[in-house]
Amino acid sequence: MNILVTGGAGYIGSHTVKLLQQKGHNVIVFDNLSRGHIEAVPEEVSFEKVDLLDFDSLSNALNKYEIDAVIHFAAFAYVGESVDNPGMYYTNNVSGSINLIKALNNKGVKKIVFSSTCSLYGNPEIVPISEKESLKPINPYAKTKFMIEHVLADFEISSGMKYVALRYFNAAGADFSGQIGESHAPETHLIPIVLQVALGKREKVSIFGDDYPTNDGTCIRDYIHVNDLADAHLRALQYLNDGESQVINLGTGRGYSVKEIIDKAEEITGRPIKREITSRRPGDPAVLIADNKKAREVLGWNPQSGLTDIIKSAWQWHLNPKY
Ligand code: UFG
Repeated sequence: MNILVTGGAGYIGSHTVKLLQQKGHNVIVFDNLSRGHIEAVPEEVSFEKVDLLDFDSLSNALNKYEIDAVIHFAAFAYVGESVDNPGMYYTNNVSGSINLIKALNNKGVKKIVFSSTCSLYGNPEIVPISEKESLKPINPYAKTKFMIEHVLADFEISSGMKYVALRYFNAAGADFSGQIGESHAPETHLIPIVLQVALGKREKVSIFGDDYPTNDGTCIRDYIHVNDLADAHLRALQYLNDGESQVINLGTGRGYSVKEIIDKAEEITGRPIKREITSRRPGDPAVLIADNKKAREVLGWNPQSGLTDIIKSAWQWHLNPKY
């Protein structure tokens, strides 16, 4: 298939591009490189430096290619930044996505896989979280994803565009080749920060609260290897060949606390990781764990990597990052 990947120079995007290529698909990447890394895009891939906010440039770029389906990653994805600067998030994530969806509709592209998030569930009432949990996004980032899920549903009604919205839990780890990985500036995610402490690039990691209602008092998250996420995108594309639109959670179904992550990273790196307890980070739910039954049933998805593989692969990357 000819597959357009927006945000293909970003973290999850680049891992998905690599897998699509391995499976013999013709991949086209659109990325404005505001957060992505050109080094993460393989040379054989068609690349357009295009900003989704520029509708004319976007339409012109689209018209250069045959496109069978789209995977839409391009978005800002920092919860804290979205609280501080909602305008930037609504503009980039909502207006940019609407431009893309309109341009795809004009071109007659009928299949789209969309990067959504488990943040849509806010503070969930039932954990593990199934897709039936009510949607209560509590920050602008999550609200942008919530809005685009609705936009996609409306375009399906008006023009038959089918979509799979994949609600990721905590993406982590790096490709086992060591050639691509997670490189955010600034870095706010737990696992890279913990590894930066192991490397001596940071003095310590702050544990944001140890008074949550969990076994050790620290927040629990469902960390999912980025290559398992990539695999789910490929399956979602195949599914869309004759399936109906879907929203699907992507997580392992197993959660780890912040303290467990730090302890595991000490074990894998063989280095001490200094930590300190600080106050809670506003907006952090205590426990987010996926019920991934739907992904298994609908996509035949079966995540392969556990926490050890996640931290080992991330450590390999952080010891020798390529960008
Ligand atoms: N944490 C710390 N110290 C840090 C960084 C994080 O204690 O220095 C804790 C957080 O409080 C949280 C856990 O580690 O409990 C994971 O935090 P991350 O920042 O790595 O990830 P989040 O769960 O906050 O958010 C991530 C993505 C979002 C996505 C969400 C889905 O950044 O885009 O996962 O769960 F929506």
